Amino acid sequence: MSRLIAPSILSADFNRLGIDIEMLNQSEADYIHLDVMDGVFVPNISFGIPVIQHVNKIATKPLDVHLMIVEPDKFIEPFVNAGASILTVHYEACPHLHRTVQLIKSNGAKASVCLNPHTPVSVLEDIISELDMVLLMSVNPGFGGQSFIENTYKKVRQLKALIVDKNPDCLIEVDGGVNSETAKKLFDAGADVLVAGSFVFNSENPTDTIGKLKLV
Ligand code: DX5
Ligand code: ZN
Repeated sequence: MSRLIAPSILSADFNRLGIDIEMLNQSEADYIHLDVMDGVFVPNISFGIPVIQHVNKIATKPLDVHLMIVEPDKFIEPFVNAGASILTVHYEACPHLHRTVQLIKSNGAKASVCLNPHTPVSVLEDIISELDMVLLMSVNPGFGGQSFIENTYKKVRQLKALIVDKNPDCLIEVDGGVNSETAKKLFDAGADVLVAGSFVFNSENPTDTIGKLKLV
């Protein structure tokens, strides 16, 4: 089981984004998590392709791009060209999920599907064998700094059982409300990758915080 950390730059200081990316390059972060919001799928707008292109110019870690957008198929190629190594789409935004997953892979990125807190793990049964990663939302997507939804631990365990049975190489990522307490329980439940935004960037020493999250 891996213990990977993907800091989300949603909580970074955009006035000094380059400095924060350099900090992540020097840290024990495994991926850089980028939250793209369209104001339609989620009630917030964040950033898009040009920001990811600029991050990609200086980042030395894989870019883990979380698309909180409707009709993601339209933008898969430009996001991969902008530098996404892992591309996550929402189950709730993809009526033809199998096609979307194939599109991500044919563009050369790793394919990941995200479930909102209310969406059961069982909906992935017939797509799990195609996936490189599953992202479980542990808050309702749209904002950083929200409280962790406790039901997520159960979903991690259910997903782990599905993965062990059908696709042991698939990673489990969890996003929202991650701190040292929730991180420990999530790793214990079977999570491989934890996204952490406010807990990292609001801490006094983000580099240390990233390192410590791996040792919870
Ligand atoms: C929420 C985003 C998260 C967010 C996490 O919609 O998907 O990645 O940045 O923020 P924290 O870690 O502060 O809950
Ligand atoms: Zn995210």
